[in-house]
Parts: sequence; structure tokens; C-alpha cells
Amino acid sequence: MASPLFLSPEQAFSIREAFGTPVFVYDQKLLEAAARDALAFPNAFGLTVRFAMKALPTAAILQVFYRAGLHLDGSSGFEAERAMLAGIAPEHIQITAQELPPNLGELVGRGCLFNACSLRQLDVYGTMFPGAEVSLRINPGLGSGHSNRTNVGGPSSSFGIWHAYLEDARQLAQQHGVRITGMHTHIGSGADPEVWLHCAALALSAAAKLPEVTRLSLGGGFKPARMEDEIGADLAVIGARLQPAFEEFAREHRRELHLELEPGALLTANAGALLCSVTDLVDTGAGGYQFIKTDTGMTDILRPPLYGAQHPITLFPATPRDNNSIPYLVAGHCCESSDLLSPEPGNPEGLKPRALPRAEIGDILVIGGAGAYCSAMATKNYNSFPESPEVLLDTDGHPHLIRKRQTMAQMVQNEMLLP
Ligand SMILES: Cc1ncc(COP(=O)(O)O)c(C=O)c1O
Repeated sequence: MASPLFLSPEQAFSIREAFGTPVFVYDQKLLEAAARDALAFPNAFGLTVRFAMKALPTAAILQVFYRAGLHLDGSSGFEAERAMLAGIAPEHIQITAQELPPNLGELVGRGCLFNACSLRQLDVYGTMFPGAEVSLRINPGLGSGHSNRTNVGGPSSSFGIWHAYLEDARQLAQQHGVRITGMHTHIGSGADPEVWLHCAALALSAAAKLPEVTRLSLGGGFKPARMEDEIGADLAVIGARLQPAFEEFAREHRRELHLELEPGALLTANAGALLCSVTDLVDTGAGGYQFIKTDTGMTDILRPPLYGAQHPITLFPATPRDNNSIPYLVAGHCCESSDLLSPEPGNPEGLKPRALPRAEIGDILVIGGAGAYCSAMATKNYNSFPESPEVLLDTDGHPHLIRKRQTMAQMVQNEMLLP
């Protein structure tokens, strides 16, 4: 299913009136429905769903998911701290971090769970917490990202302990008296149930070599369909395909594995939109292009320039317009030629004009599929544009400000003038 456009033109104009643009808007009903779907993932012996908070770490969003029964995956010690500030119980947070948090002792002391992503991380953890339980992130040797920039498994990825070093990890844990009770893989498997099954089979065969493992996380990477022609992950179908593999494992190894999942994008991408205004219209003459210029760009949404990612773009005219459409390139507001919202799919260097109604200055553009890795992953403050506000539409459709627009004073608050 493609990105639902959850905002009517009337809502979009009244949100602009109240909060200005650019502004992120999230829909609580869609967030809660996504959480319910994830918690219904078919499973053999129990399920924990952790929201990968890197996708959208704003406190109110974490609260919505926490209240809906989700746990959290934090990618750094800072994310774990941020989640606790939002009121999330530390026992519900698992840290899977590329960089070992310098305050790991304190975080684990407060109750956060730790997923060791390298032999060194395991060694440090074991030295700090001899006799404790730990989870290991394994690189099972398979990747399914669409490019080396998004691959999170296989030989080109540094994430996790390479599968051939499992025995080293076991011995290291033994030296510290640490019990490996959890195992984790995250390869970004996408939407295809067969890829998920293959990934689960690799994870299960690694889990078979770690006899104390009772918790197996398959990570996140469930692909949302942002564009109409994209196929998104269907959790019910994928879960039904995986469940027998866990049952078979239990029969063979006399071990019932509790399943964990860590979706990020699937839970939030299509529950969020970025509203911006048309600020200028330029063209590059005969044989050139027509450009819509906006008051947003890579300072709010970096995915198109970074990956050639595609987001649906809808134009809401501020005044009545004829039905003719024009092929437009949609440009961001940064002095940076790559700041383009309409690149070629998968090719940030390429240009792909979008057919949109004839635009006028003052129209609204709605960038869909913007609930994941947009607000969270933008080039904040580049060209000194302030961080944009975020608004949550509650279950009755009422807008609530959940993050204010950054002020100039906040932008420079840590800078110090020369005497
Ligand atoms: C360890 C881990 N878990 C979960 C996720 C969430 O992935 P997605 O948002 O694609 O579901 C990521 C994303 O990078 C990750 O690194």
C-alpha cells in the first residue's frame, strides 16, 4: 500500500496558518494502527516489538508507541537517555550502538539492555558486568539494502559480529562469565517474505550455536511503500512465513525462542508528512527545466539527496487552478545543487521531474512518507535554517505542537564570542 495522504487541503492550510511552514505533521491514528499491526505479527513463542527510535525520536512519538505497548531500540547511549527523559522505563530500552556509550555502566545500571555489536563491545561489557546477561548482534553474512549506503549486513557492512567469529564471542563471554541469552540480526530485509525467511534461517542457525539464547531479534528493515508503485512489507504475511521456522527450531533444539522485531520506518514513514510552501518559480529556458522552489530541503529531508529516495509530492493550490499539469523539479532551499526533492529513483545525481498542477507562489506542497528518517536525519541548521516544528494530529484530528520551531537564540546558544 502506498503512502496515504492523511491531510486534506483545508487541514494543511489551517496548520500552515497556525504553525507556519516548513512543518512536520504526524497522525496519531496511523501511528497507533501501525503499532497494533506490529504487535499482531504472527509468532510461535511470544513477541516484543521495539520501535527503532532513530527513525523518529521526538518525545511525544515515543510516548504514543510506549502507551501502545512497544519497547524501544536505541542506537546510541544518547538515544537511550533521550528515551528515558520521555518517560520510557529503562528495562524497555535495548541499546544497539556502533559507538560504545561512554556511560554504558550508568545506562545498564539503570536497567537498559545491551546488545553487543563487536567483540570489543562484548569484552568491555563483560569486564564491567561479569556474570550478567547480554545479547549479541551478529552479521549473518547477508545484506539486502539497495546500495552500499543502506546495506547493513554482508561483507561490506561493519555492523555486528561477523558470523564466523561466533565461537570467539562464545569464549570471550565465557571468560567473563557472561551469559549470551539474546541474539540479534538486522540486515534491512525489505518487503519480500522469502528474504525474511532466508534471514531468519541464518539467524536461527547462529542461535543454534549459542545454547543459552532464548530471545532472537530479527531487527528492523520492514520496507514501507511510500510511492504508489512500491510494494511494502506485509507483516502478517512475513510473520506467517517465519513462524514455522521457529517451531521447527524448538522441536529440533528443545528451545522456544521469544521473537523480537525492531521496525522503525514501517511504523512512522507514512504516518508523517512535511508541509512546505512554494516560495519561487524559475526555469532554465527552452530545453531546460521548470523549478518549484520551497522553504524546505535537506535541512528537513535528506533522503532524496542522500539516496535518491522517492517521496510522494502533492500540491495544494492556494487559489483555484486549471487541471493542466507541468513537469517540475522541486528544489530545496539550501545553497547546494544536490538539495533536490525530485531526484531519479536510487540516483541522487539524476533529475526526475514530477507532474504537478501549475504552481504559484504561496501554494502548499505536501511531502509524503516523511515520518521516518526525515526530521530525525536532516542536515540540521545548514545555511542556518532553524529546526522545523512538529505537530501531532490527535485521534480526533486536532493538531498539537510536539516540537517548537528553533529560535535563532537556540541555534547559537553554545557559541562563544571572542573577547
Ligand atoms: C539495529 C537496527 N534496528 C532497527 C533499525 C530500523 O530499521 P527500519 O527503520 O528500516 O525498520 C535499524 C536501522 O538502521 C537498525 O540499525
